Amino acid sequence: MKDYLLFSGSSNIGLAKEVATLLKIKLADVELTRFADGELRPWVKDDVRDKIVFVLESLSFPMDEHVMELALLGDAIRRSAPRTMVAVVPYMGYARQDKQHRVGEPISARVIAKFLEVSKFKEVITVDLHNDAIVGFFQVPVTHVSALSELAKAVSKESLENGIVVSPDVGGVKRARNFAYALDLPMIVMEKKRFIDRHDTTESYQILGDVAGKKAIIIDDIISTGGTTAQAAISLKAAGATSVIVCATHAVCAGDAATTLTAAPIDRLIVTNTIALPEDRKPARLETVSVAPVIAQAIEMIISHD
Ligand code: R5P
Repeated sequence: MKDYLLFSGSSNIGLAKEVATLLKIKLADVELTRFADGELRPWVKDDVRDKIVFVLESLSFPMDEHVMELALLGDAIRRSAPRTMVAVVPYMGYARQDKQHRVGEPISARVIAKFLEVSKFKEVITVDLHNDAIVGFFQVPVTHVSALSELAKAVSKESLENGIVVSPDVGGVKRARNFAYALDLPMIVMEKKRFIDRHDTTESYQILGDVAGKKAIIIDDIISTGGTTAQAAISLKAAGATSVIVCATHAVCAGDAATTLTAAPIDRLIVTNTIALPEDRKPARLETVSVAPVIAQAIEMIISHD
């Protein structure tokens, strides 16, 4: 196995430590300080020369700061001649802006991909992208791992008799199909409409399938405002679902999401730790499963092939 190091940015040190523990290494030494005017000043203290260097940074809130931190860490490391440098991005912020919804808007996910390449990252590991096609925005290899198996293990701790997997929107059908396959359950889809000119606002829902008397298991990639999840849970219960379990990879939990989700008819809410969620943004009944094993496995795979 080749000599390698794992650095962590400031966004998710807990997850980085878990990954390091699984790999039986210590996190590499970096100092992240700021000048009085707010400019970040990273200082990489470990010797990276000729090593495979991994840098873990979730592009979560405040995402622009974390994007910049990752870019500056990349620049600092590449100036000390590593063998190669891999960005480990458990949550890729801006991934939902993967197309122009209106003329005049950017394709922000593509800009983030370019940003990582300009920072000289030669590979990327990421978890459950909003859209698989985002992998194609990168010129460098992307190891796109999934947390679905970890979420499925958590759901399966109870009997799933009469269970049905639900995609809360048409865009999530492939994800829901994979989840349904992992749980050996059938699947249905909901149709969600959004207001294009009102941020984060869901207009209406329609259930394409029968949920009466069933245990509904919603699977989504991101919970941001919680609006999609809460509306879906309300509609499913109104249509006769006996219980609603929600699974999602990335718990962004922005704004009033904690209140929205706590008030919703949700029996279990299972997310992962791709984002380090502060206590005051955690909704009730939140269960968190770790993506550290899938990330550690991806790192081991890269090291063993170098
Ligand atoms: C949308 O396409 C995503 O898959 C999620 O459903 C969405 O990002 C959730 O956002 P919110 O929690 O704000 O409704």
